[in-house]
Amino acid sequence: MERLIVYNIGTLATPIGSGPKGGAAMKAIKILNDAYLVIENGKFTEAGSGAGYKKYQGKKIDAQGRLVTPGLIDAHNHLIFAGSREHEFRKRLEGASYLDILAAGGGILETVEKTRAAGFDMLYDEAAETLEKMLLLGISVIEAKSGYGLDQDTELKQLKVIKQLKKNCPQHIIATYLGAHAIPSEYKQNRKGYIDIIKETMEVIKRESLAEFCDVFCEEGVFSYEESKEILVRAKELGFKIRIHADEMTNSGGARLAAELDCSFADHLLASVSEDFTAMAESDVVLVALPLTSFVLDKPFARIREMIACNGALALATDYNPGSCPSYNLHLVMQTAVIKTGMTPAEVLTAVTLNPAYGLGLVESKGSIETGKDADFIIFNCSNLDYFFYRLGENLVRDVYIRGINVVNNGRIV
Ligand code: NIG
Ligand code: FE
Repeated sequence: MERLIVYNIGTLATPIGSGPKGGAAMKAIKILNDAYLVIENGKFTEAGSGAGYKKYQGKKIDAQGRLVTPGLIDAHNHLIFAGSREHEFRKRLEGASYLDILAAGGGILETVEKTRAAGFDMLYDEAAETLEKMLLLGISVIEAKSGYGLDQDTELKQLKVIKQLKKNCPQHIIATYLGAHAIPSEYKQNRKGYIDIIKETMEVIKRESLAEFCDVFCEEGVFSYEESKEILVRAKELGFKIRIHADEMTNSGGARLAAELDCSFADHLLASVSEDFTAMAESDVVLVALPLTSFVLDKPFARIREMIACNGALALATDYNPGSCPSYNLHLVMQTAVIKTGMTPAEVLTAVTLNPAYGLGLVESKGSIETGKDADFIIFNCSNLDYFFYRLGENLVRDVYIRGINVVNNGRIV
């Protein structure tokens, strides 16, 4: 592969390091002006400023004074599902609650019915289309969950769709088994029986290497603290990395459990208390805030300043799903975090690059622009980071590179 030199970068903004950044360290990003990058064999070999690039031969790209950041990472995404739920959205606008809709057999369970009925190709095509749109936003790493099958066959179908997408799409995809997303209607009177199915399914998934992570929706009326613990302890024994949808609506012990079991991530955390944040920070759990879900459900935003004050390493993600967040737009997540939760642009950048890379186990190769890491980066149609946040809702991504390969050029997929 020919050497690539990107020069005349107006602002190069990136976090630095191979560990999570918690507390005050989240905002300590590196900003280089008049910068350049050198890329060989798909890796960064140098990031500097000034005229240092001139000594190199290779393909030269003039960034024309633009902003460059690492590729973005979406560490919480329910990518594979069938159908839509705008009628439920309408009901919620009229006052119905998310958990009441689920308890009445709607919500997640409605998507489960549609996903069971959907063919492999249909699920694949829809997800591939979403991934293309995410690529145009510069999202180069995505975590993708199952969780809309609940029965073994459909969960495996979802994970096999992810496996196929991994082969064909330029992004790096990490699969998560979320069989513990809801109790399926047929097991409503036999929760224990369903948990046994989850444990059996985990064994098949492990044997076939279909997922790296196991996730649980720990919530009142969904999976209790004890049930979540039983599932995640077994997942850990089988060699899965683990994470929890924790305390989204009520404090159900999810964040506490994440700290106890040293989860990679704990997500949502709206009803968690300050001691939970501290315990998770001490256990190296990456705290995930999902501001667009709060926005869609018209709930308070996660108390992100408090999380950071407790030394938490925070990630921001989309939570893309057909119910509580029908948007994969990580830019809007980032902008909402700045406007509504008091995060600074620098903290937000760390929360969509280095910290999620750490939680996903990819931090040696992803999450920052540094010598030796994969050359995943974005050239924006603006010259500084503040402008990106200020232009709410506009896609300023111009060019995207993944492992040194140009996958989006001037706003179009290559
Ligand atoms: O993270 N909270 C549980 N799961 C998703 C919602 C899934 C759905 O409504 O379909 C979430 O918000
Ligand atoms: Fe979720």
